[in-house]
Amino acid sequence: MRGNLSGRFITLEGTEGAGKSTNLAFMRDYLEGAGITALVTREPGGTAFAEEIRELVLSPREEGVDALAETLLIFAARAQHLQAVIKPAIAEGRWVLCDRFTDATYAYQGAGRGVPREQIAVLEGLVQDGFKPDLTVYLDLPVEIGLARIQGRDEPDRFERERHEFFNRVRKGYLEIANTESARVKVVDASRNLRDVQRDISAQLDACLRSWQT
Ligand code: TMP
Repeated sequence: MRGNLSGRFITLEGTEGAGKSTNLAFMRDYLEGAGITALVTREPGGTAFAEEIRELVLSPREEGVDALAETLLIFAARAQHLQAVIKPAIAEGRWVLCDRFTDATYAYQGAGRGVPREQIAVLEGLVQDGFKPDLTVYLDLPVEIGLARIQGRDEPDRFERERHEFFNRVRKGYLEIANTESARVKVVDASRNLRDVQRDISAQLDACLRSWQT
């Protein structure tokens, strides 16, 4: 039952090993069950051009990458993704479910790499002009648990090679955002079993579906 809901923008965030892929698929299926076929996309990426930027940003390299250069590339990908995919979909009344968005920039480049939040805010203003997710689910778990879960997966990318301390700062960054923007960002304890995690995620989606149905 779609009712008269207009397009909404939902994002999913989490540190390494939080279960983002599984739960993104769960959210897509849950919305589908409510009669909403969401467009599923990701950041950095979501268009051919932005996926090339993703490749550039994530691939391990000898040369140290300046944190501001990294931030600018991520916002370049975001500008393209917003104009080519996200905004047109929302304008048509579609729902968009995105694997990471700007909260990741505040958490990884800001809290993790030390880019001043004011600089990120300037870029956010330039690229998004006030556009923000309607709902963000943040899958939270202790860094040790997350890193243990991803052990032995594919070759680690440039971020996955970072030390525990980096991810602790990233997690702290996410929790700070959730604290200051508690109406938008919902924290789900991802250290529990999948059934409990997904029960919480569906409760958050239900609450939004109810409140957005005007
Ligand atoms: P993924 O692990 O969700 O595929 O995301 C790829 C990496 O990109 C992840 O380690 C976090 C990083 N990232 C940032 O550092 N800043 C951002 O703004 C986004 C969207 C992702």
